[in-house]
Amino acid sequence: MEQYFCDMHIDIISVVPDLLTSPFSHSIMRRAQQKGLLTVATHHLRKWAVNEYGQVDDYQYGGGAGMVMMCEPLHKAIEALQAEGGTYDAIIYMTPDGDTFNQKTANSLSLKKRLLIICGHYKGIDQRIRDAYVTMEISIGDYVLSGGELAAAVVVDAIGRLLPGVLNDETSALFDSFQDNLLAPPVYTRPAEYNGWKVPDILLSGNTKKIEEWRYEQAVARTQARRPDLLTD
Ligand code: 6GU
Repeated sequence: MEQYFCDMHIDIISVVPDLLTSPFSHSIMRRAQQKGLLTVATHHLRKWAVNEYGQVDDYQYGGGAGMVMMCEPLHKAIEALQAEGGTYDAIIYMTPDGDTFNQKTANSLSLKKRLLIICGHYKGIDQRIRDAYVTMEISIGDYVLSGGELAAAVVVDAIGRLLPGVLNDETSALFDSFQDNLLAPPVYTRPAEYNGWKVPDILLSGNTKKIEEWRYEQAVARTQARRPDLLTD
C-alpha cells in the first residue's frame, strides 16, 4: 500500500449541507477520501444558531431587502472547529465578490493541509466575520448563485484531484487544460472509424514523438481560436 503524507482536511460551514453530499460521494472525490488523502467535513451552521428556532440570519442594518448571516453562529462555529482541529492554513469565504477562481489558485490551495470554507447565503455574511477571520474570498465566475455551496463543491473538486495519489496516473493532472495555459487537444477512442467519422491518422501511427507534436499544435490552435487571452498573460 502506497503512503502519502500530504492528506488534506477541509471543513465546510453551510446552512444547506445536503447540497454538499453528492459532489463528494462519487468518482474521484470519493476515491480521494477512501484512500485517506482528503477529508471533507461539512458542518451545519444551525448547530450554532442563536435561538431554538435555528436562527442564523437577520435583517441588515440600514435597511434593504435580504437577510445577512449573523456574527454569532459563524463566530462560534469557527472557534469550535479551530478548538477541535487547530488553526487553518486558509479560511475561505465563497462569495460572488471574491477573487475569480482559476487553476493557479487551485494549485496553490492543493499544497495546504487544512482549509475552512464558509458558504454564504442570502445577502452574505456580516462583514465583521470577513474582517476577523476570512483570509481568502473566492468567486467561481461572474454570475450569481443562490448560495456558496455549489461554488465550494467546484473549488474542493478542483483542489482534491490535484492531491498526490488521487488520480490514477499521477502525471495526468499535469496535462489538463490550463495547467500550462493551454486548452486540451481533442481526444478519440475506439473504434478508429465510426459512422464514417475517422480518427486522425497520426493518432494511429504509433509514432509517439509525432503524436506529442500533433497534440501540442492542436492545443495551441484551440487556445488561439477559443481563448487567445490565455496566450498573452
Ligand atoms: Cl462563491 N457564491 C455565490 N453565491 N454566487 C457565486 C459565487 C459564489 N461565485 C460565482 N457566483
